[in-house]
Amino acid sequence: MGIIGALGVALVGLSMMVDGTAYGQTNTSPSYEGTTSAVVDDKGNMHVPADYQATYQMLGSWAVAADEGPGSKDMHVVYASPGAIVAYRKDGHFPDGAVLVKEVFKATTKAMTTGTVSSADTLAGWFVMVKDDVGRFPENKLWGDGWGWAWFDATDSKKTTSTDYKKDCQACHVPAQASDWIYIHGYPPLK
Ligand code: HEC
Repeated sequence: MGIIGALGVALVGLSMMVDGTAYGQTNTSPSYEGTTSAVVDDKGNMHVPADYQATYQMLGSWAVAADEGPGSKDMHVVYASPGAIVAYRKDGHFPDGAVLVKEVFKATTKAMTTGTVSSADTLAGWFVMVKDDVGRFPENKLWGDGWGWAWFDATDSKKTTSTDYKKDCQACHVPAQASDWIYIHGYPPLK
C-alpha cells in the first residue's frame, strides 16, 4: 500500500472512532429502530438489555431497611438507556424508547471503617420498563399507560415471569402516577 492509501485507511479509522465516542452515544435519543430494538421484539416481548452496566447510565439507588436490626435487606440500583437523562432534563419526560432497568439485590451488612454498611450481594432479578408514547402493543398485557413493564428472575434475563402489568406492577406505582409512574425523586441526575 502506498503512502496515500495508508493515509486514507487511517482517516477512515479516525472518523469511525469519533462517531463511536461516548459523547455521540449519550446525545442520541433512544428509538425503537435503534437502541430499543435490542430490548423489545416486534411482538413487544422484552428482555434485560445486554451489558447495560457498561452502556447505560445510573439514575440512583434505593435501600430497603431490614425488618429488624441495622442496615438494609435489599438494594435497588436503577439505570437508564443512553440519551434518556439528557432528554428528560430538556422537557421533564422520558423519550419514546427509553429503557429503565432496576436491579434488585439481597444486601449484606457489616461493620466497615465508615460505620455499619450495607452493600449489594446476591442478584434477585431485574425490573425493566420501556417508554412507549404510541401504544405499539395494544394486545400485549405487559404494555399500557405509556410503558412496557416486566420482571425477570436472575436465572433468566430473556424471559419474563410477568403476565399482566396491571396486576403485577401498576398498583404499587400509583404513588408515582403524576410523574409518569416513575419514582423520580430518587434520581439525582434528573434534577
Ligand atoms: C411492592 C410494590 C411494587 C411492585 C409490585 C412493583 N414495583 Fe416497581 N417500584 C416500586 C417502588 C416503591 C419503586 C421505587 C423504590 C424502590 O425501588 O424501592 C419502584 C421502582 C421501579 C423502577 C425504577 C424506576 C422508578 O419507577 O422509580 C422500575 C423500572 C420498576 N419499579 C418497574 C416495575 C415493574 C416492571 C413492575 C412489575 C413487573 C414493578 N415495578 C412492580 C414498587 C413496586
